[in-house]
Amino acid sequence: MDVERDMADEGAAEDSAQPGALRAAMVEELRQMGALRSDPVERAFRVVPRHLFSPEAPLMEAYGVNRSVVVKRDDDGMALSTVSAPSMQANMLEQTEVQPGMRVLEIGSGGVNAAMLAELVGAEGHVTTVDIDADVTERARRGLAESGYDQVRVVCADAEHGVADQAPYDRILVTVGVWDIPPAWLDQLVEGGRLIVPLRLQGVMRSIALERADGRLTSRSVHPCGFVPVQGAGAREEHVALLDADVGLRFDEQRRLNIAGLSEALATPPEERWSGVTIGSQEMIDDLTLWLTTTLPGCGMLTAKQAAIDRGLVGRPARRGVPAAVDGDSFAYRAAVRAAEDERHELGVHGHGPRGAELAEQYVDLMRQWDRQHRHGPGAVIEVHPAHTPDERVNHGFVLDRNHTRVVIFWP
Ligand SMILES: C[S@@+](CC[C@H](N)C(=O)[O-])C[C@H]1O[C@@H](n2cnc3c(N)ncnc32)[C@H](O)[C@@H]1O
Repeated sequence: MDVERDMADEGAAEDSAQPGALRAAMVEELRQMGALRSDPVERAFRVVPRHLFSPEAPLMEAYGVNRSVVVKRDDDGMALSTVSAPSMQANMLEQTEVQPGMRVLEIGSGGVNAAMLAELVGAEGHVTTVDIDADVTERARRGLAESGYDQVRVVCADAEHGVADQAPYDRILVTVGVWDIPPAWLDQLVEGGRLIVPLRLQGVMRSIALERADGRLTSRSVHPCGFVPVQGAGAREEHVALLDADVGLRFDEQRRLNIAGLSEALATPPEERWSGVTIGSQEMIDDLTLWLTTTLPGCGMLTAKQAAIDRGLVGRPARRGVPAAVDGDSFAYRAAVRAAEDERHELGVHGHGPRGAELAEQYVDLMRQWDRQHRHGPGAVIEVHPAHTPDERVNHGFVLDRNHTRVVIFWP
């Protein structure tokens, strides 16, 4: 009997050691990839037992640095709620720059992130997390209680209106993809406070750390990210124009398009232009993508299924979505690479339709401009002003007019 109990204890000890070892390995990997950059955030990752927040997922999945765990889907199988990937959480917590004693609101609850925020604010601080979905808040509450973070306040509500009774906040961390910034978020943020928000900008999403000063928000850092779309009052669908069963153009707003002309253009052989701009094999070009979405004429995101690439209809970059210049019955997009010196690759553009060659020329010119003037610079600055702020009171740049805000993007 005693032998049996000893063996059972041994087994239990092994099981409980495993999450600890996986957590240590995850932290190491996050450090190496540059997602973890500060000691307090690293410590939060070391101590929060993240597997307790997704008990149905295998441990390897809960601790995979780039793995998010889907916890709820809609009837079509689209993810409605996930426990975000550690790499995404690390980047955003670093952007948030939480200090001990702060008051923090998290929008979109999974539990893990709120627990890490609780570690960062310490005993004197305060964390509230809000989610529109009662199943999600119930799960988060359970995970927080089980892991010893029941001081976090969990609220079930549409975050369009923030959480007024706990306001104001020093930090608001949004963990769901939005198209606009509701006035409540600005109203409930202290002057000098930070809002971190995954904002959809013409088909690309960026996690932007924005600081509040003088009635506006100004970016301090911008990172690529991917999040499930917001539900409730702030929901806003993208518009997709299909040029073929496997190829679409995505836009933030409804646009009047010559779909027949664009479809015909897609079916004709393209004009090819080479930019002279080269990239390394592991290099990220999300900064170039944002530059192109804010400068190309009539920009939409060309997105294709693998079948269209296999058929030779579009180039490989379209698989993940690539900015396209669109004008009437013609369009151009970054479609190809070819080998260049020092194991680098040169970026090439295809233009389709009667004005395809002209658009392709414009496209490569914009790439060259980015390469010369912005590639090694500070990157885009994004300002968010209340809607209807007159042009003369905003910086000169690319302006996106939303229901509640004017989003201005410029490249210093
Ligand atoms: C990516 S998940 C949150 C991840 C989480 N913060 C974590 O720690 O892993 C996004 C969540 O946002 C929630 N959501 C969507 N629209 C919302 C809204 N209007 N108000 C509050 N929550 C919302 C979804 O229900 C979903 O649970």
